[in-house]
Amino acid sequence: MRIHLLTIAATAAALFAFPAWADDAAPAAQTMPQTTATADSPDHSLRVTFKVEAGGKIDYEVDRNGAVLISPSPLGFLLANARQMDSHFAIESVETASADDTWEQPWGERRFVRDHYNKLRVHLVQPAWNNRRMTVVFRIFDDGIGFRYEFPDQPDLKNVKILSEQTEFDVADTATAWWNLGGDWDQLEYLYSKTPLNQVSQANTPLTIKTDKGTYIAFHEAALVDYASMWLRRVDGQRLKAQLVPSSVGPAVDRDAPFATPWRTMIITDSAAGLYNSNIELNLNEPNKLGDVSWVKPYKYVGIWWEMHMGLATWEAGPTHGANTKNVENYMDFAAKNGFRGVLVEGWNTGWDGEWYGNGQFSFTQSYPDFDMAAISAYGLKKGIHLIGHAETGGNMANYEKQWDASFAQDDKYGIDSVKTGYVTDAGTDQIAGPDGSIHFGYSDSQEGVRHYLANVETAAKYHVAIDTHEPIKDTGLRRTYPNWVSREGARGQEYNAWGSPPNPPNHVANLVFTRMLSGPMDYTPGVLSLQGHNQPIEETQAKELAEYVVLYSPIQMAADLPENYAKYPKPFQFIKDVPTDWDESIALNGEPGEFATIVRKDRHSDDWYLGSVTNEDARSVPVPLTFLDPARTYVAQIYRDGDHADDHGDARFDIAIEQQTVTSADTLTVKMAPGGGQAIRFVAQPARKKQ
Ligand code: NOJ
Ligand code: CA
Repeated sequence: MRIHLLTIAATAAALFAFPAWADDAAPAAQTMPQTTATADSPDHSLRVTFKVEAGGKIDYEVDRNGAVLISPSPLGFLLANARQMDSHFAIESVETASADDTWEQPWGERRFVRDHYNKLRVHLVQPAWNNRRMTVVFRIFDDGIGFRYEFPDQPDLKNVKILSEQTEFDVADTATAWWNLGGDWDQLEYLYSKTPLNQVSQANTPLTIKTDKGTYIAFHEAALVDYASMWLRRVDGQRLKAQLVPSSVGPAVDRDAPFATPWRTMIITDSAAGLYNSNIELNLNEPNKLGDVSWVKPYKYVGIWWEMHMGLATWEAGPTHGANTKNVENYMDFAAKNGFRGVLVEGWNTGWDGEWYGNGQFSFTQSYPDFDMAAISAYGLKKGIHLIGHAETGGNMANYEKQWDASFAQDDKYGIDSVKTGYVTDAGTDQIAGPDGSIHFGYSDSQEGVRHYLANVETAAKYHVAIDTHEPIKDTGLRRTYPNWVSREGARGQEYNAWGSPPNPPNHVANLVFTRMLSGPMDYTPGVLSLQGHNQPIEETQAKELAEYVVLYSPIQMAADLPENYAKYPKPFQFIKDVPTDWDESIALNGEPGEFATIVRKDRHSDDWYLGSVTNEDARSVPVPLTFLDPARTYVAQIYRDGDHADDHGDARFDIAIEQQTVTSADTLTVKMAPGGGQAIRFVAQPARKKQ
């Protein structure tokens, strides 16, 4: 009997699916249910075609300039508590619309962001299965596409338990990929590989590819809220499938309708620089939900940090405990003298003794006895210096959650308006509290983890505290909605140059720019001018450490080295003192993943521009036309370049030439970089020329 009913259902669905011959047979078009829906980008370069195939299966195709870029790729879901939502569909109705808005960021790479797209909403129904409904929404920009699924409230699908998202991306032309491993133990902190796309296994996003025809695509997601994070698993050839991060307590996603999934995104451009210049990620997030966020401050900071990573001090109690009152006050003096707003102090709170990694029994209010919070914060605030809180959880989310209110209230009391969090544990071993309070283990990027990270940011916002997450869930542009989520780690940062095996290779930063940095700000912690890790050299030049302040965007930037090391290099240190962290405009001018990148940014609070350029292990000369400068002005270019004998080994890493040159927008500079090198320039605007 059961089989019989299924057969009827399948037959009914086939009637709605309209096989290929149906078009020919149809006498009058208006009586035929629609099986395809298309829409173009505003400039018509991109076209999305949505289709209902035989059996009511659904897919989409992307064409660029008339050629197939993404071959028909499946959409839909397998559910754990109801029949699947990847077949038996018919199109109920289709809506199209256009939007062209500009919105303002409270802080960011640019002040004004244009949001210009055409929209296609395809309302689907499963006639054979109680008319269950789902909508697929596409936003088609000139430089890419976002699409997501909406589950409306409906009697037969109140609760949605997603076992598998069936979304695929089948890349039509042979392509090369820059990617790192998704779903293994080390969270997001892997080196990048460059391989043919058909050799990717399972990748984190953003995953960047270049087709043999020269089109760049970065696959990612936007607005990851209350849903499992997505890895991209290559299932065959160049077909990538959304692999939802598993939950340890049930299906990957458990939601009550109505809800929408995160956006699945593709930035699509003719150049790697174009990927970086796209605003799709932010545009696909909701506007600011926090109202007045003038309390969120971009800044530079120093801190009790590198000395621990160098093995010179300890987080835990003992004779070389770093977070002692005297040491912190010295850092505050150093910060005040050099114009830095914040001092990060790690190891100030109890819980570091013994096994904290993957364990995490920290107190987030209790200081070690040699750290006098009240005295230190008062000492700093007198000088305009704010302590930056630190909350390492060791992956014990449950232990941290219990203490949020008490710790943020304490921050508020002591003028701490930003906190760096941390989740050092192997992937899959975060400790998560279930609804009854009992603890289970799970992935930080599971739906439960995603909820935790955002709830942390929302709670912090109530106390006017900004969050910089280390070992985070990947960035999906939520800083637009929650502007107190100022930065994250989420890749191999400078810390790997202290103890990483191997340390970050010379191509790492140029890889980050066109992969990780497409997701949002990174707290990389540049500026180690001593170029020395713990028993290993840093394989790059001083000029490259400076360039990283411009190339690796974050509204909060650390000057990571020890004060005594900055005292040895006052001239390059000047650039670190000068460079802002908040911008009116940012433009990636050139670059290739893993090879080089040049980015220019205009200061939000002056007319000065800044340039950062980095290379990999190859020396190179990059012409940079200065057309971005204001044509009505001249500028004094303060150039910090690799010296003529610079190299990424030995003493040659310290060969830096600091020069001045007067330039205008009509000039072209040649940015010459040594192996493992870089270049940083401050363009100091001179008074505007008066009209004669
Ligand atoms: C890893 C973080 O990335 C690093 O910045 C921090 O110092 C340690 N965890 C300890 O919390
Ligand atoms: Ca880390």
